[in-house]
Amino acid sequence: MYLTRDEEGMLAGEEGESCRKAMELVVALGKVYGAEDLIDITSAHLSGASYKTIGDGGVKYLEDMAEGGARVSVPSTLNPIGMDRERWREMHIPPSFAEKQLRIIELYKRMGVAATCSCTPYLGDNVPSLGDHVAWAESSALSFVNSYIGARTNREGGPGALAAAIIGRTANYGLHIDENRRPTVVIDAETDGSVFSYSMLGQAVGASIGGGIPYFRGIDPDVDDAKTMSAAMAASGSVALYHVEGVTPEAGSFDLGGLEAIHMGERELKDAYDRLNTAEDVQLIALGCPHLSRKEMRDIAAFLKGKKKRNKDVEIWFCTSSRIREECAEEVRVMEEFGPVLADTCMVVAPIEGTFKRTGTNSAKAGNYLPTLCSQEVVCRDVSKLMEVVM
Ligand code: F3S
Repeated sequence: MYLTRDEEGMLAGEEGESCRKAMELVVALGKVYGAEDLIDITSAHLSGASYKTIGDGGVKYLEDMAEGGARVSVPSTLNPIGMDRERWREMHIPPSFAEKQLRIIELYKRMGVAATCSCTPYLGDNVPSLGDHVAWAESSALSFVNSYIGARTNREGGPGALAAAIIGRTANYGLHIDENRRPTVVIDAETDGSVFSYSMLGQAVGASIGGGIPYFRGIDPDVDDAKTMSAAMAASGSVALYHVEGVTPEAGSFDLGGLEAIHMGERELKDAYDRLNTAEDVQLIALGCPHLSRKEMRDIAAFLKGKKKRNKDVEIWFCTSSRIREECAEEVRVMEEFGPVLADTCMVVAPIEGTFKRTGTNSAKAGNYLPTLCSQEVVCRDVSKLMEVVM
């Protein structure tokens, strides 16, 4: 792999041990994937923020990096953590967990990472532009910025994204290269236009094609539709990039000749829905996977306004970013009549399995991970149907 003089210097340890380790990891990944060189990045988004997911081994790794002087050299944001920083007691989080979680945040901050802790940084905290090369972890977010914005990132893991953030570069392979962004399959899709149907569409497509780069015809997703569809396709499959005819910025650049076309309509979406639903009732309803946008906060508050929560046995959590919780004070007031609006955490990376066994969600991504990462049975419905059980 070709390295510049500066990069050779970093690899030789001229800029410190942490920088050397970071360079070593990025170069090793590049060699595995056949990269010819490194490429500058404009931002990073890091996963590996919840104590539940990284454990003591992850804390030790971060301590070694932070105490070794590692610092990010590009704007870098962080994925959701295992609890709301102030309201963790309302989430039934034990103090021992909270202590470790706060330590993780401190370590990232020490490395210069903005501890904004959201999986939707593209809604305000970290917004790439068309054509930017970035190193993002968090499968839903990287798929959104690749597809809807037209930035360029591979499906980074937590340590790879942190290493790239430290050296300000990533290996130049995969989705950083024009040729590799070509669609591999056409999806002729039908939805009923609701966000929930986009979630089911993403679920159906990811489960059907696995990886690859779908090119959608027949749909017109807005930001919220694309947010949930990106998350679902990355969870039921490993889709990191898709195009939507007439909507996403690169969609007009490809010749579709010779590509297989698959139809995804009512029957396929219903199959996806049936597979996600494994429970009859719920103990927790958790909304905000990916984190609720401003518009979703407005829509939920408008739906709840004037209604009463009658079933006190079911807890409700609304998950969003700190930024959006602050900006939506009026909506938060209405929503808090039903349950806490939690910032910087989510139902999947929080240790909910100690408290709940059956969870309701409107997200296909959460529907995939709640059983595997949180031992939950799942009810997956749109918001109004989920809320029927507490009204
Ligand atoms: Fe975000 Fe948690 Fe879902 S990180 S995409 S809310 S699983």
